[in-house]
Order: sequence, then C-alpha cells, then structure tokens
Amino acid sequence: MRLGKYLAHAGVASRRHSEDVVRAGRVAVDGDVVLDPATPVDEHSNVEVDGRLVRPQGRHAVVMLHKPKGVVSTAQDTHGRPTVVDLVEAGERRLYPVGRLDADTTGLILLTDDGELAERLTHPRYEVPKTYVAKVGGPPVHDKALRRLRQGVELDDGPTLPAKVRRLTPHAIELQITEGRKRQVRRMCEEVGHPVQELQRVAIGPLRLGRLKVGDSRELTPDEERALRAAPKAQRRRRPPAR
Ligand code: URA
Repeated sequence: MRLGKYLAHAGVASRRHSEDVVRAGRVAVDGDVVLDPATPVDEHSNVEVDGRLVRPQGRHAVVMLHKPKGVVSTAQDTHGRPTVVDLVEAGERRLYPVGRLDADTTGLILLTDDGELAERLTHPRYEVPKTYVAKVGGPPVHDKALRRLRQGVELDDGPTLPAKVRRLTPHAIELQITEGRKRQVRRMCEEVGHPVQELQRVAIGPLRLGRLKVGDSRELTPDEERALRAAPKAQRRRRPPAR
C-alpha cells in the first residue's frame, strides 16, 4: 500500500492532507524519514508521524510492560489498587492484560486489544512457555529439588506438567512452565522446600523482558510481534498427531 493511503486509513488525515504531511518530512518509515507519499509500506512497516507510531485501523496493539510490585494485573481492582492498565498509555484504545501475574510478582506482562492472541498466549493447549526467575529460601537449592520440579510436582489441584528448570545461584532458579495455574511457581517451589521470596517473569515464548525498566512499557517491535504471534502455532505443530 502507498504511504499516503496508509496514513489516511490510520486516520491521520485525509488522503491529500496525509500526502502533504509526508512531503513536509514529518513521517518516518522503519526509522528513516521519507518524503514520497507513494513509498510502499505494509502491515509490518513501522510508520511514525512526528515521532509517534501510527497503525492502520483494525490493526491490533500489543504492548509489553515491566510490572512493578503492588500493581494488580486485572483490568480493574475492587480495592482501588493500581492496575497494569493504568500504567500503559493506550490513547483511545482499550487494552487488556494477557494472563495474570500476582500482585507481588514483577516482570513481563503483555496488554493487547487482540482477544484471539491473548487466548493463544494463555491457554495451556498452545503450550507457550512462560519463564520466571525465583529467588528462594530454604537450604541451598539441591539437584533433588530441581529433579522434582523437572518431573512435575503434586499440588493440591493435581500434578504439574514437567518444567524446564535450572539453578542460577544457590538461592535462585529459572523455571519455564506452559500451564498458568494460580500462584503455580510459588506453590511448586514451596512444595520442594524452597519458598519463593521474589518472583519475576522474564519471558513469554520468544519475547524477553530485556532492559525494560520497572514501570515502563513499550509497543513490541514488528520482529518481536511476528515471533510472538508465531509461537503458539509453532508449539501446536510440534505436538504428535491425535490418534
Ligand atoms: N506463578 C506464580 O506463582 N505467580 C505468578 O505471578 C506467576 C506464576
């Protein structure tokens, strides 16, 4: 699609005025200012007007947030606590958190207006791994505890699926799980004798928290969004066919 038409579809201005905006040097595509309204762009292009990202109508927003402690990950809180929705600037859009983190857990949470993507990232059927770093109490973490976590541990709502686990320090472990049960990581660690003292989610599928500061949020880059959207399908294809 031509850039002028793209901007008009995004509601920036009428087609003719959008072309003027481009000629005035106010528009960048993938980081470079362009002056030709006929420049071809597509849904993966990163188009900015005056430094603000624009997206064509109908395209969903996906934002990552580094959730601080004490912030709840529901869209609204009956106790008036701050929510993850309060922390992201969504303009006119209404964004919803993808899955949940406990109020005392920090780290990566996504917000989107794409309900289908949210479902694919959270439903255990799609097996999108979530990676956590847990600082734990108890004695230094022993191989036996790691083995139990890898095999799956018995919780009061049933056994967990095997987790990928590695020890980072004598009192810190990284765990990767594909379910999303209530306080699952905390309960798993507790069950093997290591109560969680601090918990941070560092990745959802291929998407990593990286250096995003606590409380900060940003839109995913086109590459990140592509990889994230591919994660549920890729997981599903890897499963053996049903008999
Ligand atoms: N597991 C937990 O125990 N808490 C979270 O917030 C996320 C996963």
